[in-house]
Amino acid sequence: MTAKLINGAEIALQIREEIKQEIIRLKATHNVVPGLATVLLGSDPGSLSYISGKEKTAKELGFYSERIDLPEATSQKDLLAIVDKLNKNQKIHGILVQEPLPKHINANEVNSAIDPKKDVDVFHPVNVGRLMTGDADLLPCTPAGIQQLLIRSGVKIDGAEVVVVGRSNIVGKPIANILLQKNKGANATVTLCHTHTLDVAFHTRYADILIVAAGRPKYITADMVKEGAVVIDVGVNQIGTSKSGKRILVGDVDFENVKEKASMITPVPGGVGPMTITMLMLNTLKAAKLAAGLTA
Ligand SMILES: NC(=O)c1ccc[n+]([C@@H]2O[C@H](COP(=O)([O-])OP(=O)(O)OC[C@H]3O[C@@H](n4cnc5c(N)ncnc54)[C@H](OP(=O)(O)O)[C@@H]3O)[C@@H](O)[C@H]2O)c1
Repeated sequence: MTAKLINGAEIALQIREEIKQEIIRLKATHNVVPGLATVLLGSDPGSLSYISGKEKTAKELGFYSERIDLPEATSQKDLLAIVDKLNKNQKIHGILVQEPLPKHINANEVNSAIDPKKDVDVFHPVNVGRLMTGDADLLPCTPAGIQQLLIRSGVKIDGAEVVVVGRSNIVGKPIANILLQKNKGANATVTLCHTHTLDVAFHTRYADILIVAAGRPKYITADMVKEGAVVIDVGVNQIGTSKSGKRILVGDVDFENVKEKASMITPVPGGVGPMTITMLMLNTLKAAKLAAGLTA
């Protein structure tokens, strides 16, 4: 079997178009323009590129956007004061403080200082708790993107055996939580694997849906995958640089061999990656609608 590609770039474009239309409608009917503030400390090239991408997408889709660039040496106190100001700013519905933060900054304290209603990255403990209890308004971006890829590709999640490899707070744990809820687009039986799992392949081999976020290049080989499984590869690993200086990226899945066994698979790049920024935009739109007393 050669798997059907789950085209994240195409699905992300579809959702972006829906967001754009909803922003036009929201402005016309309620005079609300959703606003996103991004905060960056320092000039790490990776973070700069992420934050520029977020700002550019926000503008393209019709959001009000504010970008705050701060010196790397900004103190915890000053950063918290900026967050507090953004919490009170009525033009801003979503606040994103780009991570990783410099070592002298306590990221947990910063995440907890963001108003949970404006916490579009969904790192605030209140929102993490609400995700657990199944009544979250906002879902963390990469996991929400994975769920949308599955739903919009027509994958049956209800009753499926889902195996997640990786238990990080930003991907593994939240995607497991989202898919096991008693909700539409969920209701799966979920297993989480990590480095202390005795036999990872034993679990991955019975997965109807296999989600891999381990950060290990080509770790999942064809013999670890059930015939006909749906495989979502979250991993992004740089394994070298091409002659022209381009980064060579591979996922956590041995794509060439696994695609012959799976029924559907995400490529790297072009699978999960494009969904993350899109879901951040969707969260900002939802936050603006909730702030206006509308249903998200
Ligand atoms: N496309 C996107 O938008 C996006 C977003 C986020 C992350 N990513 C990528 O996804 C990958 C994972 O990132 P992350 O931040 O979620 O995870 P992370 O913090 O790097 O942690 C990796 C997780 O995988 C587990 N793991 C590592 N090797 C394993 C193995 N051999 N067998 C079983 N479990 C193993 C670890 O287990 P322990 O807990 O036991 O150490 C840990 O829970 C990275 O490549 C990252 O770049 C992509």
